[in-house]
Amino acid sequence: MNKPVLSVRQLSVTHRLSGRVVNVLDQVSFDLHQGEILALVGQSGSGKTKTAESILGLLPPDRWDISAQAIELNGSDLAALPESGLRKIRGRSISMIFQEPLTALDPVFTVGNQLCSVFTRHRGQRRREAQTSAQAALGRVGFPDPGHVMRRYPHQLSGGMRQRVMIAMAMACRPSILIADEPTTALDVTTQAQVLDQLVQLGQKDGVSLLLITHDLGIVAQYCDRALVMLDGKIVEQASVEELFANPRHVYTKALLNSAAGAKPK
Ligand SMILES: Nc1ncnc2c1ncn2[C@@H]1O[C@H](COP(=O)(O)OP(=O)(O)O)[C@@H](O)[C@H]1O
Ligand SMILES: [Mg+2]
Repeated sequence: MNKPVLSVRQLSVTHRLSGRVVNVLDQVSFDLHQGEILALVGQSGSGKTKTAESILGLLPPDRWDISAQAIELNGSDLAALPESGLRKIRGRSISMIFQEPLTALDPVFTVGNQLCSVFTRHRGQRRREAQTSAQAALGRVGFPDPGHVMRRYPHQLSGGMRQRVMIAMAMACRPSILIADEPTTALDVTTQAQVLDQLVQLGQKDGVSLLLITHDLGIVAQYCDRALVMLDGKIVEQASVEELFANPRHVYTKALLNSAAGAKPK
């Protein structure tokens, strides 16, 4: 297998609030390899989002304690970086897209404005050049008339269109890794497939490794190479998707598969 782009070792996370301490992640370890599409599966509350957020350093330190033996991105340890270093990594080497793009998009700026600022901020482009790049990025996610989309405000787009804008933004800096947290859960099934197809195609074209967080085993079967199964903050099983479906080991994985009868690997 290709070498890992991201290596997470013994990541543990606790949440503190008025003297109460909750263990949210317990010794999570996994690798994401070059060009791979890795699924992170588990029921709601199992710790999938917190895994992503702790890798990106997004959890406020006043309430969250994060410890890890290593969180290595292309060989350099993110856990050892100060906030200023992490800020450079976010959106440049690792991008993330969320379930509800409206929370990630700013309602008072046009799509063009927000997309351009990714190119000026992270790629050091001038305004003119950024405009051209932004149009091209929208074209790459399948918008036939990028100029029109550029002038829209987020609320003027459908959910599927917004999520494609998010993909364009996330891919703008040619990240090594894209973490997509239930990116299509809020969409209807047809739109879901369009958005995922776009995401996966673009990722493969650009050589971006994908960590796809989902609770939908149909999506795992159709799009992913390997899967991590998470339960109560622990990874209880990891296997190739083929192996997972043919020969699930953990009782929770078996239960998941039973409840998703009909899902079959590609
Ligand atoms: N804001 C919060 N305050 C306190 N605990 C939280 C908060 N967010 C998440 N948690 C705890 O972290 C666990 C994992 O949450 P999360 O990673 O969001 O789960 P998932 O994404 O798998 O649905 C939850 O079960 C909950 O106990
Ligand atoms: Mg979540």
